[in-house]
Amino acid sequence: MLPTFILSTLALAASTALAATTCNGHSELCNRSYGNVTFVGTHDSYAVGSSIADNQDQSVTQQLNDGVRMLQVQAHNTSSGIHLCHTSCSLLDGGSLSDYLTTVASWVKSNPNDVISILIVNSDNLPPTAYTSAFDSAGLTNYTYSPSSSSTTLSAWPTLGTLIDAGTRVVVFMDYDASFSSVPWIIDEFSNMWEDAYDVTSQTFGCAVNRTSGTAGSQLMLINHFLDTSYSLGGTQFWVPDKTKINATNSASGYGSIGFHVGNCESIWGRNPNHILLDFYDSNGNAPFDLAASLNSVSAPTNTVSAGSIATATTTGSTGTAQVSASKLSGAAVTGRLDLGLVLGMVLGVVGVMVGAGRVL
Ligand SMILES: *[C@@H]1O[C@H](CO)[C@@H](O)[C@H](O)[C@H]1NC(C)=O
Ligand SMILES: *[C@@H]1O[C@H](CO)[C@@H](O)[C@H](O)[C@H]1NC(C)=O
Ligand SMILES: *[C@@H]1O[C@H](CO)[C@@H](O)[C@H](O)[C@H]1NC(C)=O
Ligand SMILES: *[C@@H]1O[C@H](CO)[C@@H](O)[C@H](O)[C@H]1NC(C)=O
Ligand SMILES: *[C@@H]1O[C@H](CO)[C@@H](O)[C@H](O)[C@H]1NC(C)=O
Ligand SMILES: *[C@@H]1O[C@H](CO)[C@@H](O)[C@H](O)[C@H]1NC(C)=O
Repeated sequence: MLPTFILSTLALAASTALAATTCNGHSELCNRSYGNVTFVGTHDSYAVGSSIADNQDQSVTQQLNDGVRMLQVQAHNTSSGIHLCHTSCSLLDGGSLSDYLTTVASWVKSNPNDVISILIVNSDNLPPTAYTSAFDSAGLTNYTYSPSSSSTTLSAWPTLGTLIDAGTRVVVFMDYDASFSSVPWIIDEFSNMWEDAYDVTSQTFGCAVNRTSGTAGSQLMLINHFLDTSYSLGGTQFWVPDKTKINATNSASGYGSIGFHVGNCESIWGRNPNHILLDFYDSNGNAPFDLAASLNSVSAPTNTVSAGSIATATTTGSTGTAQVSASKLSGAAVTGRLDLGLVLGMVLGVVGVMVGAGRVL
C-alpha cells in the first residue's frame, strides 16, 4: 500500500494534468499564464481595405491564420444593430458585429488549441447586455472565459492550457461600461489591463501608462504600436496610419520598431507587453510573429505571412470617393502638407461626421 502522501500527490498530478499538448502553436505555452504571454494583435481588425480610414489589408480570417491572436474592434450602435465602424459609420462601416463574430467563431471552432482575445471599444457606451446576442448567434459565447472576479491580477491569469482544456479560449475585453455582475465574460479592460498612448505620431513610442483604472504593475499590458500622422482640416484634427513609416514601425528592430517599443516597456516595467496592436500587421511578413515568439522564448512560427497591398502599393492608384492609394497618402505625408486636391475631395464628406466624434482611435 502506497503511503497516503504519495497517493494524494498522484491524485493532485492527475487532476492538474493538462490535456492540451500544444497551445497557440507551442507546447511550452500550455503551462504559461495568459498574463505571461505576448500576443500580436490588430488595431481596427475589421477595417480592411485601402480607404483613408482602413487599418488593415487582410481579412480577419487571414489575420488569425497568420498568427494574430488579439482582435481589436470599435463597436457603434446603428439603426441596424451594432456595426464595426471607424470613428463613424459614415466614414467606414466594416459590417455588423454579428457577421464579424460569426467569421471569428468559425476560425475558433476549427482551431481548438488556440486562445484568442477580442477587445471591444464600446464607442457608444452601450450596456454589455447589448452585445450578448451577437456572441450567442455566432456561437461564440460558449467559448468565452469568465474570470472569477471583476479584476484578475497579472499572476492569477490561468494558463493557456487551462483555457484550452476548459474550452474557454476566447477572452473578451471591453474598454468602458463592462459589468461583471451582468455579463461576467465581457471583462472590464481597465481594471485588468493598462494601455500606453494611442494615435501617437512620434516614433519614440515610450511605454508610459495612458489608460487604466488599476495598478499598472499588476495588470496585463497592451501597447498601441501603430504610428499615425495627424492632419488638421477645417479645424478638425484627425489621425491616419503613417504608411510612409510602416516598414520601420512593423520591423523587429531599429528606431521606432516593435522591438524598440518593447524595449522601452522592458526598461520601465521589467517585462514584455501582453498585447501588441499593429496596423497593417502583414507589411513586414513574419517579423512581428517571429519577434513575439522570441519574446515568448519559443521557436519561430513555420507559416509564411505574405505582405499585402500596403507593401506593394504603386505610385498610381485609385483616388475615387473615400479611396486613396497608399502611395498617394504617403506622398502627402512625405511632403509634410495636405495634397488638398486629393485629400480634401476625399475628406470633405467625412469631416462633418468627424467633428464632434468623442473618441478617434
Ligand atoms: C508549470 O509551471 C509551473 C510554474 O509556472 C512550474 O512550477 C511547473 O514545473 C511547470 N510544469 C510543467 C509540467 O512544465
Ligand atoms: C441604439 O440605436 C437604436 C437605433 O438608432 C436606438 O433606438 C437605441 O436607443 C440605441 N441604443 C442605445 C443604448 O443607445
Ligand atoms: C454551449 O455548450 C453547451 C454544453 O456543451 C451546449 O449544450 C450548448 O448547446 C452550447 N450552446 C451553444 C449556443 O452552442
Ligand atoms: C493618452 O493618449 C492620448 C492620445 O495619444 C493623449 O491625447 C493623452 O494626452 C494621453 N493621456 C495620458 C494621461 O497620457
Ligand atoms: C523593410 O524593413 C526590413 C527590415 O525589417 C528591411 O530588410 C527591408 O529592406 C525594408 N523594406 C523596404 C521596402 O524598405
Ligand atoms: C514572462 O516572464 C518572463 C520571465 O519572468 C519575462 O521575462 C517576460 O517578460 C514575461 N512576459 C510577459 C508578457 O509577461
